[in-house]
Amino acid sequence: LRVAALASGRGSNLAALIAARDAGQLPIEFTLVGSDRAQAGALDVATAAGIPTLALNPKDYPSRAAFDAALFDRIAQSGAELLVLAGFMRIVDAAVVSAWEGRAINVHPSLLPKYRGLHTHRRCLEAGDAEHGASVHYVTAELDGGPVVAQARIAVRTGDTEADLAERLLVEEHKLLPAVVGAIAMGRLRWQDGPVFDEAPLT
Ligand code: GRF
Repeated sequence: LRVAALASGRGSNLAALIAARDAGQLPIEFTLVGSDRAQAGALDVATAAGIPTLALNPKDYPSRAAFDAALFDRIAQSGAELLVLAGFMRIVDAAVVSAWEGRAINVHPSLLPKYRGLHTHRRCLEAGDAEHGASVHYVTAELDGGPVVAQARIAVRTGDTEADLAERLLVEEHKLLPAVVGAIAMGRLRWQDGPVFDEAPLT
């Protein structure tokens, strides 16, 4: 399966996908890693793995939609069959993302539908939740609103800080995202007007 990824940050989820691929666990190849930040560590992760990278600067575009169109055009040109948003910190224009319905997934650090958007760890702590988690969902025009295909849960411990939760959750994300990409690559999870599992759900 030909996979492109978008990331805005350090790229640990991308690194987890690359490691799973290198360990022979994922029958995928990467066509492109794109970012809205030229300094994103994820671009260095990609370069180290020999994956072509692309950084577009939103300031070079007249609108959000124009930026998104340019970026997604390059993703399409790369031949990607699946797009993985791995820490991509932008809301993608509805017209652009709808063209990738069923072919784009995102990893979000909350037990969706709880805590869509930002600062999920802080909101979890403020709510006094006993559990926290991460979700992998198909990307739709609605921020963190697409159908969830898999989740991982962690217990919230007394005294946990945002950083503690983020750290423990990333460990789970690094297992969850490759598991979902693997299921898609092996045809176990498909899209027919919504996610269809060919076998028992992942988690
Ligand atoms: C992860 O927590 C992910 O769930 C969220 O942003 C963070 C990305 O981290 N979307 P990284 O760039 O993959 O290390």
